[in-house]
Amino acid sequence: MKSNISLIGFMGSGKSTVGKRLARRLERDFIETDRLIEERAGMPVGDIFQERGETWFRDAEQEVIKGISDSAQNAVIACGGGAVIRQANIEQLKRCSVVVYLETPIPALKERLASSRKRPLLNRPDRDTVIEELHEARRPVYEAAADVTVKTGKRPFAAVISEIIDRL
Ligand code: S3P
Repeated sequence: MKSNISLIGFMGSGKSTVGKRLARRLERDFIETDRLIEERAGMPVGDIFQERGETWFRDAEQEVIKGISDSAQNAVIACGGGAVIRQANIEQLKRCSVVVYLETPIPALKERLASSRKRPLLNRPDRDTVIEELHEARRPVYEAAADVTVKTGKRPFAAVISEIIDRL
């Protein structure tokens, strides 16, 4: 049933921050796919990538999203930025939720991600190029998956949250 709201978007688009505050405001549960994967693995995302590899992470992500889709009700779900690369995940999210894409301009993403140490895909010297290339590849997928697109970036999160609520 579509009683949930899921947030998709690039790393650094504010899914966790917006999701937590949105859930509080709507008095809903807040679920983060990355946290559920970390609980399963008993280690942080960075270590999962390093020790088990990205495919293990993506398989776990898919199982976690399927589980959420089967059981979550009235929750706000913050998805990892790469959740949309598997079509099965998009189908599950669309089955159980209104999908909200947080769209953030690349300069704001680069700024927010500049000092991030917990994102394994960006732990490399050419981080800005990786951001550009991944964003280019994923943007059409986010757009196609979204029921609602909301711009984030320089706007305060409170404005983003109000817009999401208005457009649900
Ligand atoms: C990823 C995004 C991360 C996390 C993992 C992979 C991605 O989540 O799931 O590092 O492929 O974009 P955030 O979007 O919360 O950073």
